[in-house]
Amino acid sequence: MSSLRVLISAEQIQTRIQELGAEIDRDLPDGPVYLIAILKGACFFLTDLSRAMKRDVFVDFMGISTYGKGKTTSGEVKVTKDLDISIEGADVLIVEDIVDSGVTLNYLMHVLEQRKPRSIRIAALLDKPDRRLRPIHANYVGFRIPDEFVVGYGLDYAEKYRNLDDVCVLDEAPAK
Ligand code: IMP
Ligand code: MG
Repeated sequence: MSSLRVLISAEQIQTRIQELGAEIDRDLPDGPVYLIAILKGACFFLTDLSRAMKRDVFVDFMGISTYGKGKTTSGEVKVTKDLDISIEGADVLIVEDIVDSGVTLNYLMHVLEQRKPRSIRIAALLDKPDRRLRPIHANYVGFRIPDEFVVGYGLDYAEKYRNLDDVCVLDEAPAK
């Protein structure tokens, strides 16, 4: 049996997102920000972060498959859903739930840079720096966490637990 232990409470998450929204508003040049959430987990973070920002935002989604249904990625990456809008000349903020190995964001940065945005930044709710395989600089990080598998607030284990309000550590889950 697996069990859940709260690591970051809903209240802590919401407080931190307000801070991040204000910081992003201050940092970015005038004009709209193109928020790009990586499906599916980051949608939860995007909806709250966008409302913590007091400027115009455009919202779009990108699907990335890393060929892993369990707890680890295989390292192979492909785009499964592309953007609907052009980002040429735009100030882009990639919104991600968690940076783990860095494989997904490293790949996505290369893909999006080729489309000539004016700037690209990364906002990640969670960061597990111990696990990094590819270099990634997230400009905005909600929480740095230890190397534990977490679920909730968008994060899943085999598609389950995304709708929890808290970020929880999933203990004793069967290896996949
Ligand atoms: P990366 O390419 O290894 O950085 O993987 C990032 C993706 O792996 C995230 O967008 C999540 O979908 C998934 N992931 C990494 N760590 C966790 C975790 O602790 N819980 C749930 N999903 C995770
Ligand atoms: Mg993801």
